[in-house]
Amino acid sequence: MDKLTLIRPDDWHLHVRNGEMLRQVINHTARQFARAIIMPNLKPPVTTVEHALAYRNEILAALAPDSNFNPLMTLYLTDNTRITDIEAVAQSEQIIALKLYPAGATTNSDAGISALEKAFPVLEAMQKYDIPLLIHGEVTASEYDIFDRERLFLEQKLCVLTEKFPDLRIVLEHVTTEEAVHFVETASRHVAATITPQHLLFNRNAILAGGIRPHYYCLPVLKREKHRVALIKAATSGNPKFFLGTDSAPHPTHLKENSCGCAGCYSAHAAIELYAEAFAQENALNKLEGFASLHGPDFYRLPRNQDRITLIRESWRVPEHYGQGTLQITPLQAGEEIRWKLQ
Ligand code: DOR
Ligand code: ZN
Repeated sequence: MDKLTLIRPDDWHLHVRNGEMLRQVINHTARQFARAIIMPNLKPPVTTVEHALAYRNEILAALAPDSNFNPLMTLYLTDNTRITDIEAVAQSEQIIALKLYPAGATTNSDAGISALEKAFPVLEAMQKYDIPLLIHGEVTASEYDIFDRERLFLEQKLCVLTEKFPDLRIVLEHVTTEEAVHFVETASRHVAATITPQHLLFNRNAILAGGIRPHYYCLPVLKREKHRVALIKAATSGNPKFFLGTDSAPHPTHLKENSCGCAGCYSAHAAIELYAEAFAQENALNKLEGFASLHGPDFYRLPRNQDRITLIRESWRVPEHYGQGTLQITPLQAGEEIRWKLQ
């Protein structure tokens, strides 16, 4: 197959930041995807409907004039989120979910939930109004090994949530382990997961073999090969519980190549091409459309997109950088060849 036409995909997990960084990255996403769920971990975090709508307007203003892209907004769940906030989200067409970060789990997560029980009344309201909860699923206590944090979250926290709120729709974001795949496969139909391109393409050797490679460092961190294989199997299985969410997370190059480098891979420059690469390696390009374009809208109960994109089998080299100075970012696979190209 040298040409692949798909219903236009959506990115169900995306960081675009704000200000100048937003203007630098947003059109990479908008040229491929019709919609994206925008993460709320700004400084300060997006915790109110007013803030989310103002942020959405900033995103719309940063789009290229001819683009037709719909940012779907989220609120950041904190210890101070109120039932009235949930009621306001239920009234909004533009805000479609809340994001739960355990405090300290990742970039700008200090305002996250300090103890799960504190969120129970709000989760009850979300279940009642049928608003999806998006979860960064890692335990945070420093005694836990970083490679075990996702598995321990499933065992200690997520099973409590799914039992207590059986009708709450939950997306376990950026799953990285075979245990997470198994959890989602065996959970109710209300539980789904996103998978990033880096977790489909690489295992943890990519960060550490032959030297420290900060541009492969994200959270949850890349895992062993057996986990990558489990993720590939899930993504290419046709199971509608698994769908595309890049977790593209731009950080300036100087803050990644640093003695304490930031977590996050920037993949928006080539997201659908990177997924095509992963599916092609598995001889499963026929499963890409379900994963990229159908399962997500079906889970979120949004219409499937009408228009199409075409990928052609043509190699191109990823630039070493995008942007300049303190805004320069180093994309995933910088300087490497990608064999699929968006037409
Ligand atoms: O690697 C990550 N980067 N993981 C996250 O959960 C957050 C993201 C970011 O915002 O930089
Ligand atoms: Zn994320």
